Amino acid sequence: MSFPRTRLRRLRRTEALRRLARETRLSRDDLVLPLFVVEGSGVREAVASMPGVHRHSVDQVVSEAKAVFDAGVPAVILFGIPAAKDARGSGADDPGGIVQRATGAIKEAVPELCVMTDVCLCEYTDHGHCGIVEGESVRNDPSVERLAATALSHARAGADVVAPSDMMDGRVGAIRSALDAHGFDEVAILAYAAKFASAYYGPFRDAAESTPAFGDRRAYQMDPPNRREALREMRLDLEEGADALMVKPALPYLDVLADARRELDVPLAAYHVSGEYAMIHAAAERGWIDGERAMQEALLAIKRAGADWVLTYAARDLAARLGG
Ligand code: PBG
Ligand code: ZN
Repeated sequence: MSFPRTRLRRLRRTEALRRLARETRLSRDDLVLPLFVVEGSGVREAVASMPGVHRHSVDQVVSEAKAVFDAGVPAVILFGIPAAKDARGSGADDPGGIVQRATGAIKEAVPELCVMTDVCLCEYTDHGHCGIVEGESVRNDPSVERLAATALSHARAGADVVAPSDMMDGRVGAIRSALDAHGFDEVAILAYAAKFASAYYGPFRDAAESTPAFGDRRAYQMDPPNRREALREMRLDLEEGADALMVKPALPYLDVLADARRELDVPLAAYHVSGEYAMIHAAAERGWIDGERAMQEALLAIKRAGADWVLTYAARDLAARLGG
């Protein structure tokens, strides 16, 4: 009978040894908290399908942003729900629009907090698609013009990072040109580069009121089976001037994230999306899993696969728990 000389269990024996042997760490520094902003004042309404997530009016989102920054989270990403919607998504690039006002108010109150803005039309169009619709189809180039105008309006409001999530071809280049032409060369672009047409966006669409009125987003968001194509999307966005790239959703696409980490030398973000968050909470509410541990394990897996930044609705809670 021969016993093993190599015993990997030796370094798992105590918490101190495990701490030393740990290859990946979740840190507050990696977290970005998504925030939903609605019209009105004094509004803080719970999103039913996302326990712990609220829709805030501008005044409330400012105190939320302060608390988030105090908890040690370096960045938020803003989503706006406007009072009125129309075919071209006029609210998206309105200088007095909901995201523009929220951005200005947050940057004034908490200047050190990094404010990212989601750049898309779907919350602002009456049909709920991410671009300009003609008949039953979403037209690429007219949508890109609207998206560039939207990104520019966010930069004017004080955004540090603009994050296009629409998946139109050429939008990163058009946004870069629009920003540079107006003196916003320091505003960064985080491209939702590999964004898949996913079932996991369900709860978000309730929160953001952005469900398409007809059809779905499969003619512009990526087809889930495609791994090589995701790298093409990411390389293209880099060529067009993206500063950082995102993979979305996160857990179902860790292979894509790992590919990107191996192939590309840029900051990578991953979005642990609404459905991923909701599933953990739903199971925990039934007592079927330990929600806190499951959340940490999920976010750690995203980091292990190669993400530098993790967008998560759990950012504030987690930061409080992780400490400095
Ligand atoms: C809008 C947008 C979506 C998400 C981020 N930006 C929804 C969609 O594409 O339908 C999803 C975020 C989430 O589910 O948490 N373009
Ligand atoms: Zn959209």
